[in-house]
Amino acid sequence: MNTRRYKALGAGAMLAIAIGGAGAVTAAPPQQDRAGAAVSPADARARADRLVARMTLDEKIALVHGLFPPMAAGKTANELIPSAGHVDGIPRLGIPLVRESDASLGVANQVEQRKGDVATALPSGLATAASFDPAIAHAGGAMIGAEARDKRFNVLLAGGVNLTRDPWNGRNFEYLGEDPLLAGTLAGEHIAGVQSNRIVSTIKHYALNAQETGRNVVDARIGEAALRMSDLLAFQIAVERGNPGSVMCAYNKVNGDWSCENRHLLTDVLKRDWGYRGWVMSDWGAVHSTAKAANAGLDQESGQELDKAIYFAAPLKDAVEKGQVPLGRLDDMVARYLTGLIETGAFAAAVPARAVTPNYAAHAEVAQRAAEAGIVLLKNDGDLLPIARSAKRIVVIGGNADVGVLSGGGSSQVRSVGGAPVEIPLATGASASFARITYHASSPLLALRKALPGVRIDWIDGRNLNATVDAAKAADLAIVFATQWTSEAQDVPNLNLPDQQDALITAIATAQPHTIAVMETGGPVLMPWLAKVPAVIQAWYPGQRGGEALAGILSGRINPSGRLPITFPADASQPPRPRPVGLDRLNALEASAAADPANAARYVQESFPVDYVEGADVGYRWYEKKGLKPMFPFGHGLSYTQFAYRNPQVTGGRTLSVTFDVVNTGKRAGADVPQMYVARDGSGAPMRLAGFRRIELKPGETRRITLTAEPRIVADYDTALPGWRIAGGTYRVALARDATDRTMVATATLEPQTRKP
Ligand code: BGC
Repeated sequence: MNTRRYKALGAGAMLAIAIGGAGAVTAAPPQQDRAGAAVSPADARARADRLVARMTLDEKIALVHGLFPPMAAGKTANELIPSAGHVDGIPRLGIPLVRESDASLGVANQVEQRKGDVATALPSGLATAASFDPAIAHAGGAMIGAEARDKRFNVLLAGGVNLTRDPWNGRNFEYLGEDPLLAGTLAGEHIAGVQSNRIVSTIKHYALNAQETGRNVVDARIGEAALRMSDLLAFQIAVERGNPGSVMCAYNKVNGDWSCENRHLLTDVLKRDWGYRGWVMSDWGAVHSTAKAANAGLDQESGQELDKAIYFAAPLKDAVEKGQVPLGRLDDMVARYLTGLIETGAFAAAVPARAVTPNYAAHAEVAQRAAEAGIVLLKNDGDLLPIARSAKRIVVIGGNADVGVLSGGGSSQVRSVGGAPVEIPLATGASASFARITYHASSPLLALRKALPGVRIDWIDGRNLNATVDAAKAADLAIVFATQWTSEAQDVPNLNLPDQQDALITAIATAQPHTIAVMETGGPVLMPWLAKVPAVIQAWYPGQRGGEALAGILSGRINPSGRLPITFPADASQPPRPRPVGLDRLNALEASAAADPANAARYVQESFPVDYVEGADVGYRWYEKKGLKPMFPFGHGLSYTQFAYRNPQVTGGRTLSVTFDVVNTGKRAGADVPQMYVARDGSGAPMRLAGFRRIELKPGETRRITLTAEPRIVADYDTALPGWRIAGGTYRVALARDATDRTMVATATLEPQTRKP
């Protein structure tokens, strides 16, 4: 059952921070046509319509379904590059061939479909989110897009922006955390970066693909207003900011309808309310019908071999001929596809005839900067970090830190430039057919030895507990690397570190008071040993320069500046759902499938609901609402210097702003991320992140900045209006270091306002 097929089937008063920065919604730059002239959105659609008018019915149909190269041999006269997708062009009309690659964290090559083809691997999406830096997200996207173009891809399946609703989601590492403003802002920048290469970026997975357990059958249930104020808002902000050529609808159902045939999501929200001009492509194996899907707003069937039928080939032609799908709808499907290609510049900028070697050296620097900006210093009692000049003997323990850093599994997997020093195939599990536990060749041990010449740095793999404890005792300092591999297609069953690593860390910290834990995890894990371990670094999956970035932070060359884009629970009972919904049921069906094959069918077909009871109060908002104290809050992150906020002035009127001095009161240069949280006074609603800005300051430097609230964060969605409604009245504004910090709260009055959906 563990085949790719199995995976697919079964298993403003904008938050415009006034001084540039996060939240300012910018229009995507106009693209150029072949002659270098700018293509306006209206021109792009007009050109697309003219092309459609010249096409035969068969030509139109040919553009609205795409091949899955591994299963598509012989179906095209064109070269199929082993990757995710392929759509033939129409040479007589100058319509280009489209080659699609996964690209969330780099140009993917999951289980080495393209032998020997490497690419630059960024750190995980959560690391990029932890930078709170739109420029880091943009640079990462621009780098990936450049490599993709060199490798002859022109549509990238990048831009995952599903909000983290559950800390155990196997795909959290690909996404940008739990907050719609942060995730939407950074996703938009990532997309704009990709598309600066005149190729298309896709935003995905629209919408509410919030768990991997049963992702092909789960029915995500949530109220309309709550959905608009959470997951959809992240998409909306990202679409505005990045203007992606395409949107990928998800596997799951939303409120009873498959995402890829959900008229409300595809047509009413995306195309009507948001004025989206590009095309909607399906996820791979996510189409379930012809007329219903086409009429609901799906424009293209992707990875067609993975669906039960090729719904958008002969069946769509038939449906058009019978009038079940209006010809005008088919024309719109094709015109949207072409508009996405034309607006991004992918239409005119043909892929190179031969692959070109990317500038890997320069791109590695992009990956390293992202890691350095995204690693979070969670705890640093007694200023154990950076490692003191007096340290003579250090032991590095576990996590394969002698050879590399861990990466997350699934379609985002990059085979990075330096190779994979550790690669473990999987015997079981929903991702076994297309994922391996893979490390990037970036050794924290070697990088640390280089960063700390003259210090004796020993290595022990941590398998023998007694030997490890002895090694920890013998050293001045122990650095233990903890790993948690997570992957697309499966959630982690619980939030504990696997493989008795908690016991290992406890034993080390008991023997050695100077212990530092470095966490290479997909997302939050529980840390039962936290009280014993004075310093903890959240490294996420730090990408192909992760070892160097970590050595920089441990040694003090780099001042940590990441902030958590996701709440770390104190125990598994705190988040809305303690463990993956439906996991026990699916495990039971899978276990009994051998005895009764009908159970295998139920596994892949029977839908089950997940009720998102937290509504729009995702992540830190849930904790505030429920009065829960997390282990580490959203927005938290320490530095080797200190920052103070002084002379805050909060203003209201049409919009909420806070202007204040940020002062680096310490002795080192560093970056801070002041955050603005807002709530209507007396509403009882938890405060929401309405603005943030990453700012770099020299020691002693002061800078006065303004954060201005994104109005849709201040507003509530009103389904009766319909649209965004800001109630007039008094609002509380917190200038804060994290989502729980209420040391500086002031109030201001806002005028009542409404905005379009
Ligand atoms: C994933 C998408 C991915 C697609 C193509 C699907 O299984 O959900 O994120 O882009 O495969 O590989």
